[in-house]
Amino acid sequence: MSATRVVIFGASTFSSLAWYCLTHDSDHEVVAFTVDSAFMSGRVHEGLPVVPFEELSAVYPPDDVQLLIPMGYQQINGLRRARYETAKSQGYRFISYVSGRAGVWPDLQVGENCMIFDHAIIQPFARIGDNVIVRSGAIVSHHCSLASHVFVSAGAHVGGNVSVAEQAFIGLGVVLKHGLTIAPRSFIGAGAVMLADTETEGVYIGNPARRISHAARETI
Ligand SMILES: CC(C)(COP(=O)(O)OP(=O)(O)OC[C@H]1O[C@@H](n2cnc3c(N)ncnc32)[C@H](O)[C@@H]1OP(=O)(O)O)[C@@H](O)C(=O)NCCC(=O)NCCS
Repeated sequence: MSATRVVIFGASTFSSLAWYCLTHDSDHEVVAFTVDSAFMSGRVHEGLPVVPFEELSAVYPPDDVQLLIPMGYQQINGLRRARYETAKSQGYRFISYVSGRAGVWPDLQVGENCMIFDHAIIQPFARIGDNVIVRSGAIVSHHCSLASHVFVSAGAHVGGNVSVAEQAFIGLGVVLKHGLTIAPRSFIGAGAVMLADTETEGVYIGNPARRISHAARETI
């Protein structure tokens, strides 16, 4: 079977990381990057062409390539969600990447446009939606569910039976006690130890974690 031809959205350091992972740890062939024309800063990235997203379907139509959108958690994952939904509405399909160095099991269920990085552990019975990023060394325990558009940062520990709703952000090294429900678009700051359920769009920090008002939350 021939390799899937892939276009990566973005030309950032995170896009470079995705390109490196696919090149060294997958059967996919990255053929180009694509960026919103307003953010074009060059025509070449990692030796490959950068195509304005507005022109992508003319140059790399949906029946020729699949996409990967390895964006971060800006606007509490809203930006990645918007780009994913736009590309999907244009007919694009998406690959997912699961690192060969991740600890996963035969029942792994991962949606499209997901990235599971090295040394992440996804235990049996965990379920992962679409457009989810699980960074290096994170632990997603048994019977957890990560809904679509979630971002789990490096070293976070998600206890058993935790349910993480759409677009929630789990920061570096966060601990989520077993059985919690993390509400949509919750933002759990780096190092927080979450011992109770969260509220929609709540921002939490500290140990034990407490909700803070975050005046500039549109910037996170
Ligand atoms: C919670 C967060 C969004 C706050 O960002 P911010 O608004 O820029 O906050 P500031 O850096 O101005 O800090 C404001 C105060 O909160 C404290 N604070 C900020 N983040 C904190 C955190 N995660 N835990 C505990 N205290 C924190 C600061 O020490 C500061 O305290 P002070 O007023 O007593 O000096 C941010 O610190 C954070 O945790 N982001 C997530 C980072 C992450 O995990 N990235 C993943 C990379 S892959």
